[in-house]
Amino acid sequence: MLQGKKIVLGITGSIAAYKAAYLVRGLIKKGAEVQVVITPAGKEFITPITLSALTSKPVVSEFFSNRDGTWNSHVDLGLWADAMVIAPATASTIGKMANGIADNMLITTYLSMKAPVFVAPAMDLDMFAHSATQRNLDTLRAYGNHIIEPGEGELASHLVGKGRMEEPDKIIGVLEDFFTFAGTFAEKKIMITAGPTYEKIDPVRVIGKFSSGNMGFAIAEACAAQGADVTLIAGPVALTTAHPAIRRIDVESAGEMYRAAMSVFPETDAAVLCAAVADYRPARQATEKIKRESEEEIRLQLVPNKDIAASLGAVKRSGQVLVGFALETHNAQVYATEKLKKKNLDFIVLNSLEDAGAGFRCDTNKITILDNAGSVTAYPLKSKQAVAEDIVAQLASRLK
Ligand code: C5P
Repeated sequence: MLQGKKIVLGITGSIAAYKAAYLVRGLIKKGAEVQVVITPAGKEFITPITLSALTSKPVVSEFFSNRDGTWNSHVDLGLWADAMVIAPATASTIGKMANGIADNMLITTYLSMKAPVFVAPAMDLDMFAHSATQRNLDTLRAYGNHIIEPGEGELASHLVGKGRMEEPDKIIGVLEDFFTFAGTFAEKKIMITAGPTYEKIDPVRVIGKFSSGNMGFAIAEACAAQGADVTLIAGPVALTTAHPAIRRIDVESAGEMYRAAMSVFPETDAAVLCAAVADYRPARQATEKIKRESEEEIRLQLVPNKDIAASLGAVKRSGQVLVGFALETHNAQVYATEKLKKKNLDFIVLNSLEDAGAGFRCDTNKITILDNAGSVTAYPLKSKQAVAEDIVAQLASRLK
């Protein structure tokens, strides 16, 4: 997949710069051509001589290559590359990228880059967690850059070690996946449902399920970053979207979500149903707040909501891909397989509350994907962004 691919590797001043040598070696082994661009601080951590020996190319660092006025063209590099990878990316470089502060060759190359950009942050965990860094990373996501989350897949060290640069072989894996389905999402229309639905009992009380919307929003961003045209139907959540290719429709109840989904679905190539839809709604909604007047019991009569997934499954055209989720507490695979069939899904993403760090109201997830051909793929615990990339890769292999 990386054979003949031209990669610009940006290296910055982090202790993880030594890993860049392994990254270069791995990329070259896979047949890629690598041009290193290093920041002045990067050179304090790894020597250009090592890197030029590995890449068989002079390392680019200064605006001018000689004192004779010959200068390095960042514009040419921007046109030459099939991908740019910035690994390790320090908080400083991420900040400069997000704000266009072009005071070194790496940033000017980034600003001239026509190819997709991958960023592997590497820094102290407090620096990584700081709102300034997270805001800058969100800005880069909004620019369509791919953030390779630090410490992805590391179960125990997820909380203690977040900030450590992802391992070179994982970064190479991300690039391989990207080139495998590059272009698959261009011009494709994808619908995503996310978050909970609220079913009103009265103007101040609701019935619903726990759901932050994080998983669905991460999938929407990942599809948009691949070039898809995304419609995100969101229940009541406190989240914002970053990518400009995401059209958002806000709904509150299952009925509203059903109507929005049924009207959008026929125009789409695929739908991913992440929403935790309330299964029942009160038969009657009180128009005024129900007063607590005595200690007497009150009874709510509930009526079933329509199953959006099953309704879409019933009208699915050939070639359309339908993906559902299942959140289970026990007998997970059995129930998930039943849902896959009943709702006519192409694959179902299972998360079990039996797994720590999986399910709702957390930033991580641990999934198993079951498909309609009977295959079962289990993934390790990852951030919801990284899980979204895995789901997008599965989706890509099924899109026509
Ligand atoms: O049956 P269950 O709610 O567990 O099914 C989960 C899957 O079905 C999810 O993909 C969810 O978004 C979808 N669903 C739906 N409409 C419903 C209930 C579930 O789209 N009313």
